[in-house]
Amino acid sequence: MTLYGIGLGPGEADLVTVRGKRVLENADVVYSPGRLSRSVALEHVEESKIGDLDFPMTRDEEKLRAAWKEAAAEIAPNARAGDVAFVTLGDPNVYSTFGHLRRTIDAFHPDVELEIVPGVSAVTAFATAMGVEIEAGAGLSLREAANGASPTGPDRMILFKVTDAPATHEGLAEAGYDVTYGRRLFMEQGDTRVTDDPTDIDERDYYTLAYAEKADLEIEAATAAFQTDDEAGSDETSADETTADGEPVADGGRDLHEDELVSLEHTEGCEGGDCGGHR
Ligand SMILES: C[S@@+](CC[C@H](N)C(=O)[O-])C[C@H]1O[C@@H](n2cnc3c(N)ncnc32)[C@H](O)[C@@H]1O
Repeated sequence: MTLYGIGLGPGEADLVTVRGKRVLENADVVYSPGRLSRSVALEHVEESKIGDLDFPMTRDEEKLRAAWKEAAAEIAPNARAGDVAFVTLGDPNVYSTFGHLRRTIDAFHPDVELEIVPGVSAVTAFATAMGVEIEAGAGLSLREAANGASPTGPDRMILFKVTDAPATHEGLAEAGYDVTYGRRLFMEQGDTRVTDDPTDIDERDYYTLAYAEKADLEIEAATAAFQTDDEAGSDETSADETTADGEPVADGGRDLHEDELVSLEHTEGCEGGDCGGHR
């Protein structure tokens, strides 16, 4: 019998993975550490299966340790007798409360079997929600920027916990970053917002992140040239040389044999920048 740490994804019920949904449906008890994760879990399980845990709103480490010991003591017997789940938004191993539970279970209930079901993290979901591409070979750093902090240094950063966007923005703009903010991305609860203007989101909302990129960053992906060199693009690929999706094809449209496909993948992978880093 097992304790499952389940990542629920960013908030929309259908972004829970198939495996996560199956485990939730089969679990005897589903514990949630907060209101939002509880409401996502409720899209998949009956309310009678939800086991609420009480966590004090405190930074006092003694009190937090006591709360986690109490939570683990409540969960462990149920995880010995059956399957239970502990849900978190996003992924359980990314800036998540699940880490506290895992360490407490390991320390005080080491016989409990533990398994993790990864979830769609805000770390990756932001890219689609905000129309950003982190192309192969690029670096990307994860930082926190609570209470107006403006961490700087890396070429590209995702900043979590942006609770004072105008103050954070000031420091980032001064350091030469272009910044886009995303609030409640892929979330059913509350309004989703994507904006470059920090004053649009000046009221505090914990579910806010920022993507910061150095303004003078040069993107070196081979196909980036298509965005600036229209003429070259139209010379190289005529209308009938594209697939239905508009993707250029290598041979004017005829079906490729399998060995040609393998060779094409290899060439694109290496010469197109996916084999090695460019920065
Ligand atoms: C403690 S971290 C939890 C991260 C989560 N475990 C994950 O993998 O996405 C919380 C921070 O993640 C960011 N975040 C999480 N979900 C988000 C969402 N749906 N939209 C925007 N930001 C989100 C916010 O910056 C928030 O302050």
